Amino acid sequence: MSDAPRKMTLRDLRKLYDDGERIVSLTAYDTLTARFVDDAGVHLILVGDSLGMTMLGYPTTVRVTLDESLHHTAAVVRGVQHALVIGDMPFLTFQVSPEEAMRNAGRYLQQAGADGVKVEGGREIAPTVRRLVDVGIPVLGHIGLLPQKVVGEGGYRVYGRTPQEADSLMEDALALEAAGAFGIVVESVSAAVAERITGGIKIPTIGIGAGRHCSGQVQVIHDILGLFEAFVPKHTRRYGNLAQEVRRIVAAYRDDVRDGNFPGEENSWK
Ligand code: KIV
Repeated sequence: MSDAPRKMTLRDLRKLYDDGERIVSLTAYDTLTARFVDDAGVHLILVGDSLGMTMLGYPTTVRVTLDESLHHTAAVVRGVQHALVIGDMPFLTFQVSPEEAMRNAGRYLQQAGADGVKVEGGREIAPTVRRLVDVGIPVLGHIGLLPQKVVGEGGYRVYGRTPQEADSLMEDALALEAAGAFGIVVESVSAAVAERITGGIKIPTIGIGAGRHCSGQVQVIHDILGLFEAFVPKHTRRYGNLAQEVRRIVAAYRDDVRDGNFPGEENSWK
């Protein structure tokens, strides 16, 4: 039997969780990047609707369409051999009705080849999560800061800072667990509350800006690569400065072309 790592399954993810191993997750939006991420042994690749800002130049995630998300999810799937690939259902593709959510979610598996979908929300979408899970669509929940509601909420903030909000997040997590979600992204939630949620449910929590006690962590790949230049969000850590490197390379190419140093002899056919 080959020792090469095979495609992850939800059962493998569950085993990591049961064994107390931390789950590693990153976003990716294209084939080549997905291949790098997969080769590094990341367990779960999320084709987040952060796609809107990282790849498409939108101000928020709200303008991402189902077709755009499916297009990028399929590209990621083509680059992945091992990791689980989860497509992030965009704004208004799962909130209108469970039937519509089911038809749209099905396209991630059938058309894009994903292993499941992520949906934002707590108790209010639990019945939809139940329907998706019942027809065989694995669902990753998402509570705390919900980027698709950021416009309505009036901006970004940390959740769970009052006892009422902490209790409400806990109820959301329990509702998603009861509805059959295989895990829950917990975003921008105070560390103590995220720890309480993690200890209070029996499915993995995957934190972003939720402290170190979640079952795993997810980051937007552009943040850790240092491709996003405007500022470093508090929840992230830059492991490099690719933006600077890309600028350096492009400027070097520009200068070589201008100065007649590119192409060289080695780049030309005699
Ligand atoms: O869209 C996204 O990338 C996400 C992660 C930040 C969890 O939802």
